[in-house]
Amino acid sequence: MSVEHADAAAPHGHGRVPGERHATGYDDETRARLTRDADEIVARYPQARSALLPMLHLVQSEDGYVSPRGIAFCAAHLGLTTAEVSAVATFYTQYKRHPNGTYTVGVCTNTLCGVMGGDAIWEELSEHLGVGHDETTPDGAITLERIECNAACDYAPVMMVNWEFFDEQTPASAVEVVDRLVAGEAVAPTRGASQVGTFKEISRVLAGFPDGRADEGVGAGEATLRGTALAKERGWTAPSFDADERAAATAAQVDDGAPEVGEEQSSAQHAPTTPADTSPTGEQRKQKSDDAKES
Ligand code: FES
Repeated sequence: MSVEHADAAAPHGHGRVPGERHATGYDDETRARLTRDADEIVARYPQARSALLPMLHLVQSEDGYVSPRGIAFCAAHLGLTTAEVSAVATFYTQYKRHPNGTYTVGVCTNTLCGVMGGDAIWEELSEHLGVGHDETTPDGAITLERIECNAACDYAPVMMVNWEFFDEQTPASAVEVVDRLVAGEAVAPTRGASQVGTFKEISRVLAGFPDGRADEGVGAGEATLRGTALAKERGWTAPSFDADERAAATAAQVDDGAPEVGEEQSSAQHAPTTPADTSPTGEQRKQKSDDAKES
């Protein structure tokens, strides 16, 4: 049911004409529930408009994407224009502008995962599911995406399902995961929660309403901690941070004529940092460039 409401329950509105009506498109019950959640989100911030990002996740938890009625709801609740809300929603890839599948399957095809097999996984999944990037299977189960590095390179090639990690995948294991998801089975990621949530469930978590699963499963795995373990074993420590020493070093740098932090500077003012900065070849190149500028 699509209903137009006077937005009397928008206590955080700024710059909106009192009594102005917004077409939020939610029925009374849904709208009341969303308004309660939105109030809770807004209360976390000094300014209402700062709540927009989690509010957009809240809308996705309801509609499965950032719907036109969700945009209208956010605008009404935060005292923004729908154009302002849309500008933010179109900037971030986690906000979907058309109905998303129950599971977003993201294959990392960034450099490391790509060469470690991510490209092959992508091709296999795309062919198996019959969809391309940012497309959803006809049954609405899977939205397939190429994704950028998820800071899990130590487990490359990595696949994400609704932002849960599936490490060290192969084309065959990736196909098995999506087949199980399509079949409605409970699927566990290799790290993190013991079961992957649906797109709407995870969107609610991203809106700031915990599902109680944050402490389930393994967080940092063995590969991630290998450097720390090695350092402990060999007694390596990071250089200590001494504020006085740091201040003295900064002062010495200033005395050297180096620009202060925040000061206007050009690349010519930088101290040499590599041998090439001072090599004869580098000097000749610089002279040639200076001559060219003067001629
Ligand atoms: S390149 Fe894939 S997680 Fe970093």
